[in-house]
Amino acid sequence: MEAIVQPTAAAAADLVARLIAHELRANPSLVLGLATGRTMEAVYQCLTRMHRDENLDFSLCRTFNLDEYVGLSGSDPHSYRHYMNQHLFLRVNIDVRNTHLPNGCAADLDAECVRYEQAIARAGGIDLQLLGIGRAGHLGFNEPLSALRSRTRVKALSPVTREQNALMFDSLEHVPTRAITMGVGTILECRRCLLLATGAEKAAIVARAVEGPITSMVSATALQLHPRCTVVVDEDAAGNLTESDYYRWIFANEPEWEEYR
Ligand code: GLP
Repeated sequence: MEAIVQPTAAAAADLVARLIAHELRANPSLVLGLATGRTMEAVYQCLTRMHRDENLDFSLCRTFNLDEYVGLSGSDPHSYRHYMNQHLFLRVNIDVRNTHLPNGCAADLDAECVRYEQAIARAGGIDLQLLGIGRAGHLGFNEPLSALRSRTRVKALSPVTREQNALMFDSLEHVPTRAITMGVGTILECRRCLLLATGAEKAAIVARAVEGPITSMVSATALQLHPRCTVVVDEDAAGNLTESDYYRWIFANEPEWEEYR
């Protein structure tokens, strides 16, 4: 795992967008794993700007999102499909038929989870998976006790997650109780993982995810098992990392990061 500390949240999001753009330019048919949440809005803004000003081309790109709420249709303003349309899909030249999210309204949810895994496999697997981190350390909706080898499935949302996401709904009781999420095992199979966390409220959980012991209680710790995972944080989210001087030295000196400094 590599951890990169950027001075501000805007700089961290910009770096993540540049890493994505680099991969997309190298492979226009990139299979891109996407994430939702407030943190990602800045990344999608950067990608939209790069599409407009730098001809970043999404026409052949295929996407798979991490998760979707059970019971919300794509037209529901609280659904992750709606979020993706608003923040990215309708702002760039992506073919919407190439964008995939689990269907939270499927009649047979278990069959939908199997179908989603099969669609990822048919696309050849995910090349680059963008990830946020919830306050309790979940990736997607891999809540506490998510098996490290879990696949796409229905997961009950923890009270902490429902409370955190209530800000986007009118009230806590409107937050769905379940979601379909890619599993930890599904995420670990992606060729590259890219996690973005910003803000002081993420500092404690970032330190656990990056430097703490691997545990199914905090699914983000599983990223320590991934051979190619980059964690990008701002100064505030880096606040509890014990080895941040070492991480800073690597970013400042190693040739692989030269074009991003
Ligand atoms: C939701 C999403 C996660 C995301 C998390 C953090 O729970 N399912 O994928 O990482 O929110 O969101 P935020 O960026 O708003 O803190």
